[in-house]
Amino acid sequence: MAGIAQIKPVTSLAPFASPDDVDPTLQLFLEEANARLCKWFGHASKRGPLPLVSVLPEVAPAMRGLTSGELLDELELVMEGAYQPSHPGALAHLDPPPLTASIAADLICSGLNNNLLAEELSPSLSRLEKKLCSWFADCLGLPASSGGVAASGGSLSNLMALVVARSQAGLRGDPNAVVLTSCDAHVSVLKAIRVMGLADDSLEFVPTDDDGTISMDALESCLSGLRNAGRKCFAVVATAGSTARGAVDPLDKLSEFCRKEALWLHVDAAIGGAFALSPKKAHLIGEISKADSVTLNPQKLLGIPKTSSLLLVADRDHLLNTFSTGLPYMEPPGGLSHGGELGLQGSRPAEVLKLWLGLRQLGQEGINHLLDGALNRRSYLQNQLDISQFNIVSGPLHLISVTPKGVDRDKAQSWSASTRDSLLKNNLMLSRPLYRERYYLKVVLGNPHTTTEHLDLLATLLKESLLEESH
Ligand SMILES: Cc1ncc(COP(=O)(O)O)c(C=O)c1O
Repeated sequence: MAGIAQIKPVTSLAPFASPDDVDPTLQLFLEEANARLCKWFGHASKRGPLPLVSVLPEVAPAMRGLTSGELLDELELVMEGAYQPSHPGALAHLDPPPLTASIAADLICSGLNNNLLAEELSPSLSRLEKKLCSWFADCLGLPASSGGVAASGGSLSNLMALVVARSQAGLRGDPNAVVLTSCDAHVSVLKAIRVMGLADDSLEFVPTDDDGTISMDALESCLSGLRNAGRKCFAVVATAGSTARGAVDPLDKLSEFCRKEALWLHVDAAIGGAFALSPKKAHLIGEISKADSVTLNPQKLLGIPKTSSLLLVADRDHLLNTFSTGLPYMEPPGGLSHGGELGLQGSRPAEVLKLWLGLRQLGQEGINHLLDGALNRRSYLQNQLDISQFNIVSGPLHLISVTPKGVDRDKAQSWSASTRDSLLKNNLMLSRPLYRERYYLKVVLGNPHTTTEHLDLLATLLKESLLEESH
């Protein structure tokens, strides 16, 4: 009508779902949110892994709450500025696209809003967590006494493992306590030491051999040096899949060493642990079954939406002995231990729901296919690279790092920065780790959308980058 401003219909979304009836407005809202998410996925390859622009909507709540249409528009603005892991050129980090069934499980998890703190706040989900942890422990070959707990990320799993190890060694509060790990271990190990109230020199970094794995000779001499100095070593942290190159420490030798020296063996398998789920690929990470504790991050290669990490221990009682304080404001557990007594986190979401549903969606065949695909892409790319031109550092897993041969550190740094930029212009995103005081470009081949054409282009551009650098 001329002269009268068009008013958009205002659909008011009730802030809480009705307990009496199915709310059609809520249903429409969720359907529209899903439609926009599907559109975001469907357009992934039309943009790059990184957004061109990122405009944020207003942050503070307005006086009047927003309508459902306005909420969705604001949500879309944030989505447009997000990193896009589904782009086939997203090869920089250990963050693959999410499994589709797990996306639904995450939504349902929010809707259920159960709390893994206590069984009465999450009756079915507490049982699911316990059973799923046992299933993972079985896959790893841990003993019947084993169990675990979900955690919000691998850093937290590593921290909890070391807290348990120290407690079992009777060294709580002892400033002389020491942990040994390789110099290629993830930074979260040092963070854990700090959170545990220990000085930085309570973490002894053991040198690695040329292949990026911990040197057993150096480990032995570090241990005896520390003991001679009166330090009390309580754990070795091994890495099954190092962050810079995917190297796997020799778990058979380490477990023998730790047994002989009465040390706790924690295996940070945040990257490599997924391979234990495939009978044909489990050998890549070696004898993980001998570990006292293991960190797994299904949020990495398996594609479970973040966060999804598990801490598994060979003896589940160690978790309770370490963390249980009693929960005096809760009913006693009816058979299961309260989830809040098994680790550091109190209230926590049922992250196992998306892990369980994602694995059910894949099935064993899907899991095998995912792992094989990542390894095949890694071999394919590596075969395209000329080893007379590049230093390639890797391990047996799905990531490799490369740097030009025969150049000094400064040149390697400028090459890595300019090549990363020019690859980004071609929608190929790599990361740039500083490893052994030299910059590399790292390629993580866990993205199932990456094809041989993308890898051919990547190899060609890497080759050309050397010509540009020499001009
Ligand atoms: C080997 C390793 N361990 C632990 C972590 C920490 O995991 P999160 O980022 O989930 O805390 C990472 C992260 O990349 C890692 O590469």
